[in-house]
Amino acid sequence: MDYILSSAILVLLCLGVCSGAGVINVDLLRGAEGQTVTFTTSVTPASQPFVALTWSFNGTINVITSTNVDVIGPEYENRINLDKSTGSLVLKNLTQRDNGEYELIIIPHGAEQIQGTTKLEVMTKVSRPTMACPTENLIEGKTSVNLYCDVDGFMPARAWMKDGKPLVSDDRFSFYDGNRVLSISPVDRSDTGEFLCNVSSDFNFETAKCSFEVLYGPDTPVIVQTPTGADLEEGVTLSCSADSLPKATFFWRFQNRVTHGPVYYINDVEDENLGVYTCTARNAVTGLEASADHNLTDSSAPIRTSVSMMVCTVLILVGLV
Ligand SMILES: *[C@@H]1O[C@H](CO)[C@@H](O)[C@H](O)[C@H]1NC(C)=O
Ligand SMILES: *[C@@H]1O[C@H](CO)[C@@H](O)[C@H](O)[C@H]1NC(C)=O
Ligand SMILES: *[C@@H]1O[C@H](CO)[C@@H](O)[C@H](O)[C@H]1NC(C)=O
Ligand SMILES: *[C@@H]1O[C@H](CO)[C@@H](O)[C@H](O)[C@H]1NC(C)=O
Repeated sequence: MDYILSSAILVLLCLGVCSGAGVINVDLLRGAEGQTVTFTTSVTPASQPFVALTWSFNGTINVITSTNVDVIGPEYENRINLDKSTGSLVLKNLTQRDNGEYELIIIPHGAEQIQGTTKLEVMTKVSRPTMACPTENLIEGKTSVNLYCDVDGFMPARAWMKDGKPLVSDDRFSFYDGNRVLSISPVDRSDTGEFLCNVSSDFNFETAKCSFEVLYGPDTPVIVQTPTGADLEEGVTLSCSADSLPKATFFWRFQNRVTHGPVYYINDVEDENLGVYTCTARNAVTGLEASADHNLTDSSAPIRTSVSMMVCTVLILVGLV
């Protein structure tokens, strides 16, 4: 009854007087869900307590009406603190329902009523997303993978980054379900690194990360002969290497003999050692193999061959640098 009566009085009074800037210090307050905001006023405390003081929401909803008793709206129990000398109001634990307009009306003793309005904008806070990281072996050119960026609550803006750079869709990267899913098809060795999903609202952002390695190779082996010219009766070493993850194992084939290991030694080159050596690199995880040939020739052989051999070696060395 008290509330209805005082509200009626306030509304009547307000019809005549309420207008202008009002006594609330800001026109618009912003706060995030769960946070606290304070509506401060420029009211100077009077010597006598105010006759009545009321805060309302969206025109009709009582927040608090304070006369000789306080009537607090059900939504506001335990969420507000009112400074009865200035009318300042603290509103705690904001929710989206608090979005809207707030009005303060104060009826002082023997003075004109005091009034103010302001708006409150409650911003949505995003929570930390989760991203499941693939646990299976990711093999270049074979495996496709989906990364899911999941977050509780409302649908925030989502953006994906790789090693700190924004990801855009191309022939291997696609985005689905409002950027919730990043699909990589197929994976490539250049995908090794850190993927990050950034969910954001106007108020805050949160991220989730996933790092993985893409297994690949072996690439075509590179064979280096030292010394580059083989003389009969001298020693020669053939070294084979190939880019691969995990590291490749190697074997050599010369005529019908197989030798394991990346390095092939010939202590003393004889005519029977000349010919084509094949190095094969094998990656046990990708299950792939790659081979290269090397023709071991006598360096006293015709110049043309030596020159082409030199060029080849230089190219290999340049490639290795
Ligand atoms: C804030 O509001 C939510 C939802 O109404 C409630 O579950 C939570 O207990 C409140 N927290 C506090 C600190 O009052
Ligand atoms: C309060 O008013 C605003 C617009 O001024 C509206 O968006 C909001 O839904 C209203 N809230 C309630 C709980 O009535
Ligand atoms: C996430 O997105 C927000 C909004 O676009 C941006 O301000 C923030 O810098 C981003 N954070 C990261 C780690 O990329
Ligand atoms: C290897 O080199 C020798 C000497 O130049 C040449 O006669 C021979 O044909 C080469 N073998 C192959 C398979 O290229």
